[in-house]
Amino acid sequence: METKDIKTFSFKVLGSLYRAEKEEDCYLVQIKRKDESGTAEFKTALPFIDALFDIIHNYGLENIGKINGSELSIELDFNASDTGTKPGGGAANEIINIFSVIHRVYRPDYKDMTQRLKALTDGIPHFTANAANAAAIVFNTLEYINWAGFYFMENGKLVLNAFQGKPACIEIAVGRGVCGTAVAKDEIQLVYDVHKFPGHIACDPDSRSEIVIPIHKNGAVFGVLDIDAPYTYRFTEYDAEGLTDFVQEFERII
Ligand code: SME
Repeated sequence: METKDIKTFSFKVLGSLYRAEKEEDCYLVQIKRKDESGTAEFKTALPFIDALFDIIHNYGLENIGKINGSELSIELDFNASDTGTKPGGGAANEIINIFSVIHRVYRPDYKDMTQRLKALTDGIPHFTANAANAAAIVFNTLEYINWAGFYFMENGKLVLNAFQGKPACIEIAVGRGVCGTAVAKDEIQLVYDVHKFPGHIACDPDSRSEIVIPIHKNGAVFGVLDIDAPYTYRFTEYDAEGLTDFVQEFERII
């Protein structure tokens, strides 16, 4: 596929892109308009770059990406008037999905989020109120997400509990979906693309990526914290680490 074949591609060049310092786990991404009318540069975490390479490879677009040391530069053949995220080809949409998330380094302050949970729940003996506030903190702190909440174990199944977002599935069997898998394996599930996760349960069709963190009580799995995002590759190891701390704080109030 030649570069000209991707003219369905549209990319919103953001006015506030900035050149960031290089960091160990980040790449600098440079977007240069083919007509030389502008350049956009930004920094992103490794999983996003992996995603980008997957797309470049899957759609045979190798000719648009060049890697030079730790810098990846991509020349995109797009029409100057064709900005915004219009529906287009598969590659175009997937790239837009990723770029719209990574246009700036997004590193939520999980330490602060965890401290706020502690401050809000310390000494409060009402579990439902605490769980509801915890879900509200997550949903209102994190950007680029569409659902955040809890499922707790009841009679061997996960049952929906406090959450924010669209109405969701009420019961999930252990081993089913992303949540049930997190319980069965007792492991965090970091799902870059839910459409590629066998058995994913689609509660909200907007969800494209998901992270699920098991919650424990007395050594057994008590439930999960589930967060969905309407973009592929939204969550990274950074989120997994930050949310692990958050869940540990939550475990203190169970
Ligand atoms: N997607 C989840 C189901 C819960 S909703 O996302 C809120 C899963 O596959 O387990």
